[in-house]
Amino acid sequence: MDFEKVLLSRKSCREYTDRPVEDDKLYKVVAAASLAPLGLPKNGKPHITIVTDKDMLKALGSQFGPDKDIIYGAPALVIASCPPAPMDGVAQMNAACVVEMMALQATNEGLGNIYLYGVTAALAKNEDLVKQLGIPEGFVPLSALALGYGKEEVSVCKVFEATLSQNRY
Ligand SMILES: Cc1cc2nc3c(=O)[nH]c(=O)nc-3n(C[C@H](O)[C@H](O)[C@H](O)COP(=O)(O)O)c2cc1C
Repeated sequence: MDFEKVLLSRKSCREYTDRPVEDDKLYKVVAAASLAPLGLPKNGKPHITIVTDKDMLKALGSQFGPDKDIIYGAPALVIASCPPAPMDGVAQMNAACVVEMMALQATNEGLGNIYLYGVTAALAKNEDLVKQLGIPEGFVPLSALALGYGKEEVSVCKVFEATLSQNRY
């Protein structure tokens, strides 16, 4: 897809079909994570966890209670976990860069997707699930991307608009 079209087509998807994401597409999305800019990379790169197991997705999605699915029934979830960084906010910003790169690649692949913080905020307090997912000791789940085939097709839905100021002193 043309790059500008990707930018104009990315939007949060909160309704998914049951169609699983093909492995090659999933790996392409995850590969985009490795291209993200990182602050203090020597401190440790983000650890990426791909979840497609239905029981695990259910456990992650129901962390705020059984009546609310905080991953919106997506058939895949990719979690970015980072080691704490010696400067405030760097770990969170690294996770955000990684997830946004994946969001754009997922959009490029025609996959619905959504940046999620809530699921990782809950997961970070859930030692049992963190262990089951094999997230390395000391790494904190900070952000995630849910993805799958959306009920609505990916298409241009935005326009370029910006509120900005230039050279104001
Ligand atoms: C840092 C961050 C955290 C987010 N966390 C959640 C979340 O936990 N749950 C949710 O439904 N949406 C979450 N979102 C998605 C935003 O609600 C969404 O991006 C915003 O409303 C703009 O809509 P758009 O993505 O369609 O442009 C998050 C987005 C960002 C950037």
